[in-house]
Amino acid sequence: MWQQYIHVEKIEDVLEVLSVEGPKARVLAGGTDLILEYRNGQRNDIDTVIDISRIPGIGRITKEGETIMLDAMVTLSDCVASELLRLNALPLVQACMSIGAPQIRNRGTVVGNLVTASPANDTIPVLVALGADIHIQSKRGSRIVEIGNFYQGVRRTVLLPDEMVTGVSFKALKENQKGVFIKHALRNAQAISLVNVCIILTAGTEKIIKKAAITLGAVAPTIIHARAAENVLIGKPLSENQIVTAKELVMDAVKPISDVRCSSAYRKAISGVLIERGLKQLQEAESGLRTGETPVLLWGKKSNPLHECGLSQEAENLHYEFAKGDDLEMVTSVNGNKYLIRTGKSKTMLDLLRDDLGLMGTKEGCAEGECGACTVYLDGAAVLSCLIPAERAHHAEITTIEGLADGEKLNSVQEAFVDNGAIQCGFCTPGFVMSATKLLEEIDNPSLEQIKIGISGNLCRCTGYYKIIKAIESAARE
Ligand SMILES: Cc1cc2nc3c(=O)[nH]c(=O)nc-3n(C[C@H](O)[C@H](O)[C@H](O)COP(=O)(O)OP(=O)(O)OC[C@H]3O[C@@H](n4cnc5c(N)ncnc54)[C@H](O)[C@@H]3O)c2cc1C
Ligand code: FES
Ligand code: FES
Repeated sequence: MWQQYIHVEKIEDVLEVLSVEGPKARVLAGGTDLILEYRNGQRNDIDTVIDISRIPGIGRITKEGETIMLDAMVTLSDCVASELLRLNALPLVQACMSIGAPQIRNRGTVVGNLVTASPANDTIPVLVALGADIHIQSKRGSRIVEIGNFYQGVRRTVLLPDEMVTGVSFKALKENQKGVFIKHALRNAQAISLVNVCIILTAGTEKIIKKAAITLGAVAPTIIHARAAENVLIGKPLSENQIVTAKELVMDAVKPISDVRCSSAYRKAISGVLIERGLKQLQEAESGLRTGETPVLLWGKKSNPLHECGLSQEAENLHYEFAKGDDLEMVTSVNGNKYLIRTGKSKTMLDLLRDDLGLMGTKEGCAEGECGACTVYLDGAAVLSCLIPAERAHHAEITTIEGLADGEKLNSVQEAFVDNGAIQCGFCTPGFVMSATKLLEEIDNPSLEQIKIGISGNLCRCTGYYKIIKAIESAARE
């Protein structure tokens, strides 16, 4: 994995390190792509990781006039939780809600999604439809790149090795604009898009369509605009005929690949279905669409706890020594116990907890963010410890399953799992209990839908989930 891990406190530090280390360094935001790429051996050429998650003040969503700006560390959960985005950029909220599961969304960022540049990534079609601008900085200066010019192919952008993205901006949707994002995947959570679409319509008087943006993901090496379909909608109110014509034009336009997830013919057919579904939703929805009930974030009572976790003063002096020396020195607090660690270099937080601290309750099921068995709380938010560098524990508060019970007294969720027989082999149980405990901390009496979202990042091979849901409902009644 990485040789040098640098915590930075200011953007200038990032630019400094990038100007020195260039192609051998990468910015780490949430790490939910980068750690997996390291694990898959795709990043052996990168020996320096620059953790920007501790820079104070770069996790904001702001609106000035008509322009919305997302900073570099705005997470997908921040977008799901944002009232400002629900009112002014609903398709982006819908896209972020569709990514991964709460533990992934708590660390994953919009900018990270953009820079990874997978054609199936879900925020990109929306930001292309919104005509977003990417704000880029290096020690040499700054520049703004229109998103349509940011991508050069699959997983390739115009970003230079010494540059970082400091934010992404776009115009808020106006009163006469409505938008929708729809994704089609093999599962409701933790599933990469087979096809995704974003449609934004601008209506004039008598609902005549003045402008249309129709973008699709996962049907070409980069996101495409369905230009012929957009043009056929303009100049008339939205009608059944037009919807059918637009559907056929999109199916003609897309040239998808076949891959392990589905065939090209299936992707083509689904592209048409999603366009038809999206246009019908916009036709029927008077004032734009609404997303469901209170979002499930697994933050607990606080608003995004991960934005309040800068390095403490004394840690500041450590961060360069901390990065370079072999005698790595890290101070962290796990379940309220302080640890000074010299061995946590270049491994995941999960390995640190199990191998170095002997806390075996947190499990490794997949080591790639798919199963939730490694769920812990980092500074109060539920995250997946297999996708987090051990060094991120430095001056952080971590809670593991061992930290939930009060001595011998199990917490109400643990009791409920036992009482409802919501356990067979028990391997997944610590992860479920961690997610469920945080859910009930956040939402006293969650609906069935909210419970399903709360545990959507956790997989169980044995119980079949009914007893797990019953246990969570009974703990909620408690
Ligand atoms: C189980 C699982 C399920 C997932 N499901 C989905 C899904 O359904 N849809 C989807 O779109 N994605 C999905 N993802 C991918 C990932 O979670 C998202 O792409 C996430 O938004 C990445 O954000 P991050 O902050 O974690 O990125 P990181 O991993 O921190 O970084 C990603 C890339 O961007 C670079 N980078 C990050 N920030 C900056 C910056 N400010 N300046 C310059 N470079 C930067 C990094 O160097 C790296 O190359 C999934 C991932 C996992 C593990
Ligand atoms: S999600 Fe971390 S081990 Fe499976
Ligand atoms: S009880 Fe065995 S994996 Fe869930």
